[in-house]
Amino acid sequence: MTQFAFGNHVLELHRYPSAQQTNLQAWDAADEYLLQVLEEKTILGNVQVINDSFGALLCALKAIHPQLCCFWVSDAATSHFGAQQNLNLNQLTTTDIHWCQQPSADASSVQLTLMKLPKNLNYFAWQLTQLSGLLPAGSELLIGAKAKSINASLLQLIAQHFGPASASLAWKKTRVISATADGHIRPEPQVEQWAVPEYRLQLSNLSNVFAASKLDIGARLMLQHLPQGEFHDVIDLGCGNGILGLRAAQLYPSADIHFVDDSAQAITSAKQNWQQNTGNDTQGHFYWDDCLSHLPADIEADLILCNPPFHQGEAITDHIAWQMFVDARRRLQAAGKLQVVGNRHLGYHTKLKRLFGNCHTVASNQKFVVLQAIK
Ligand SMILES: C[S@@+](CC[C@H](N)C(=O)[O-])C[C@H]1O[C@@H](n2cnc3c(N)ncnc32)[C@H](O)[C@@H]1O
Repeated sequence: MTQFAFGNHVLELHRYPSAQQTNLQAWDAADEYLLQVLEEKTILGNVQVINDSFGALLCALKAIHPQLCCFWVSDAATSHFGAQQNLNLNQLTTTDIHWCQQPSADASSVQLTLMKLPKNLNYFAWQLTQLSGLLPAGSELLIGAKAKSINASLLQLIAQHFGPASASLAWKKTRVISATADGHIRPEPQVEQWAVPEYRLQLSNLSNVFAASKLDIGARLMLQHLPQGEFHDVIDLGCGNGILGLRAAQLYPSADIHFVDDSAQAITSAKQNWQQNTGNDTQGHFYWDDCLSHLPADIEADLILCNPPFHQGEAITDHIAWQMFVDARRRLQAAGKLQVVGNRHLGYHTKLKRLFGNCHTVASNQKFVVLQAIK
């Protein structure tokens, strides 16, 4: 379904990338509930919108109040592309929209902040801490979420990091939490730091980065079986904190390593980890992107390493893995290698064989398999 109806408006909204399964919507009932709550309010000032997956809230706000100045915050490149796509699709104005990766000091003047609850509560706490330092006492924050995600400890977490909060009645299995800034600035939480001693690597992870405090077990198997030989352009596709690319830099010292991730925090962490572990200013390159869609045209890789995600937000899906494989094939040189790690049951073998015409198993254990396909 792509027709999003609210008040007197109907919008056409697509997920991003839009070619994916049509049974998943670009909005949810919590978006509808937030807009209902908003109908009872008079909007006079600027508004901030945070974690709005594909821009449903932004498009609705711009449909109702085209002049509204909006600070729109998302860590994900796919969300930024999706929101821009949906504004264009509905011929909505793109003026007075500030596109941000994290809450910014420029938004301190906002009258109201709308937020969707992210899955990762450490990241949520980090976002609240940021807001507590930016929004003056009395600022209103409305958070839409599934009713089952809201309980006393979540309200307490909000009170601890931002200010007092209470939840509305449930509607379509969702609730809206209403919170008020208490004007008390919280200190930034410590960035998670951990070591991978067998490779002499020291890693730090911002709160929205995969593998928060230890090496992923799939990544561990991949690291034990990286290909031998000489490579010149290596892509770490879906790099997270950059662990695969950092190991590649040790094994292939003359290679340029290209780190790509949808999460801005992942790119920041990968960059910090590169600086901390290599001290090399020239061979590490970083791209905040949806798969390889905007990678500079002159990069042709001879090796791509990939530990793909199997969900997008709350939705379990293999379409990102598939897009990563398609993009990887396009960006590999002739005879270049794509090496992938994944859960055995995900069936990546079949996908790679279909795409490359070949695929062999490099290593496996009870849970994971490392596969390689050659262009
Ligand atoms: C399973 S994690 C792997 C992280 C890291 N390479 C490792 O092995 O620990 C998958 C990564 O893919 C990223 N990702 C998800 N969707 C993406 C997309 N459309 N384009 C690029 N990266 C994406 C996620 O942010 C996440 O960092």
